[in-house]
Amino acid sequence: MKIRAYRPGDEAALMDVCLRTGHAGNDATGHLLDGSLMGALWCLPYLVVEPDLASVVVLDDDTPVGYVLGAIDSAAFGAAAEEVYWPGVCERHPIGSAPEGSLDELLVHLIHDRSHTAGSRIGSDLERRYPSHLHIDLLPEAQGQGFGRRLIDRLSTQLAERGSPGVHLGVSRANERAIAFYRHLGFTEWDGPDDGIDRTFVRDLSKG
Ligand SMILES: CC(C)(COP(=O)(O)OP(=O)(O)OC[C@H]1O[C@@H](n2cnc3c(N)ncnc32)[C@H](O)[C@@H]1OP(=O)(O)O)[C@@H](O)C(=O)NCCC(=O)NCCS
Repeated sequence: MKIRAYRPGDEAALMDVCLRTGHAGNDATGHLLDGSLMGALWCLPYLVVEPDLASVVVLDDDTPVGYVLGAIDSAAFGAAAEEVYWPGVCERHPIGSAPEGSLDELLVHLIHDRSHTAGSRIGSDLERRYPSHLHIDLLPEAQGQGFGRRLIDRLSTQLAERGSPGVHLGVSRANERAIAFYRHLGFTEWDGPDDGIDRTFVRDLSKG
């Protein structure tokens, strides 16, 4: 396995990684009728808006089995996604298209009401001090071998080189393993208001 930059054509495999790690770090496949909904929310926007900041872990045959995705300026990312990404996704997943009471229905709602997606905390102290944000997910076969650390380091370097002072991320309250990983890598928990769903962790990028 090795790390390389994202390339067009990786999308389907990366959407699959998103689904198979989407249940607090575990496989969400059986929890959704439409497996593409998770990737539509938390993977594809980054490949469309900030492809330069996407890196992937690939097997020897070049199949992607993990990624880190980033946005250098969350507010600008949110605005760009409103222009070039969300209208088409909303059209593909109209309100009422998922069964009532299902997880699919909740995700379709999130697609249409983007108050919890990236860029929604514009003007907050969090986005002033830690304007960048990231998502990282590795399939089980890629976990525990140092790829998570290397992907975070690679993205942190890219963000710092482009002048970002800090990065934040959201993690499910149930995902204790990822929380311990972020703490081990030097992220600290944000003590300001959170988004009410995930826990927020931050890392200063200005100190190198
Ligand atoms: C969480 C995740 C990104 C970590 O990546 P990883 O490749 O498994 O972790 P690494 O092997 O790179 O570990 C890096 C370091 O963190 C440490 N670490 C990893 N998990 C840890 C844990 N749960 N507790 C304490 N330390 C941990 C490792 O020991 C290693 O330490 P070292 O570099 O000082 O020797 C990965 O396991 C994953 O994608 N899990 C499923 C999806 C997920 O939960 N994503 C996050 C959603 S917010």
